[in-house]
Amino acid sequence: MFHMKVIKAKTHKEAGYLAADEFEKVMGKKADCVIGLATGSTPLPFYDELIQREKNRALSFSSVRTVNLDEYVGLEAEDPQSYRYYMQKNLFDHISIKKENILIPNGLEKDKETLCRKYENQIEVWGGIDIQLLGIGHNGHIGFNEPDDFFAVSTHEVKLTEKTRKANQRFFKSPNDVPKSAITVGIGTIMSAKKIVMMAVGGDKAEIIKKAFCGPVTPKIPASILQFHPNVTLICDEAAYMGFY
Ligand code: PGA
Repeated sequence: MFHMKVIKAKTHKEAGYLAADEFEKVMGKKADCVIGLATGSTPLPFYDELIQREKNRALSFSSVRTVNLDEYVGLEAEDPQSYRYYMQKNLFDHISIKKENILIPNGLEKDKETLCRKYENQIEVWGGIDIQLLGIGHNGHIGFNEPDDFFAVSTHEVKLTEKTRKANQRFFKSPNDVPKSAITVGIGTIMSAKKIVMMAVGGDKAEIIKKAFCGPVTPKIPASILQFHPNVTLICDEAAYMGFY
């Protein structure tokens, strides 16, 4: 918690608004900035707010580059459960971003090693991530970096834990349809971002917020590594903030 700035929002919507403020600041200074994006239910009001702000001309995505955290292995881009689909529906279809400025892993790529290497290369060619949005899983995962005995450095394929597969089951027709693995950026990729904004909302996130930011840094709780990042803003709604008490 050394460097971390913690902001308490009244509601989920306000948390999204405050996160958008952080991105607007960076996008205002650098038109072709590289922004790291996340999926899940947490960022939805954030994306609504970004769309609104571009409509109101407060910001522009015309030169912005985006890097997504992760994607399921085995799902097509058009699959409604793929993260590509989520990003199109919740953000990309509504903003001026150029197709070539979107980086998200291709879940159907057979040669995963090459895919992962190219992913890291592209981020480097773009000059690194200026600002990264994160959610947090109930087990402390960031991206799909699950609890482990070590911190994975760079983009890699990961086997999803049963806990994560269960948490995501609600989106699929049957439990067996939940993919067994994903491609995710590494902890090193995330830690290289110049600024990190984490959103955490809901009482069910309070306990993991406490473990991740009021306890020791450990790969058993991947998000705890953020305690070592020099520029993190954590935006909690009131329920998630209760973790600090
Ligand atoms: P959620 O997911 O926003 O749907 O809670 C967060 C995460 O798993 O990173």
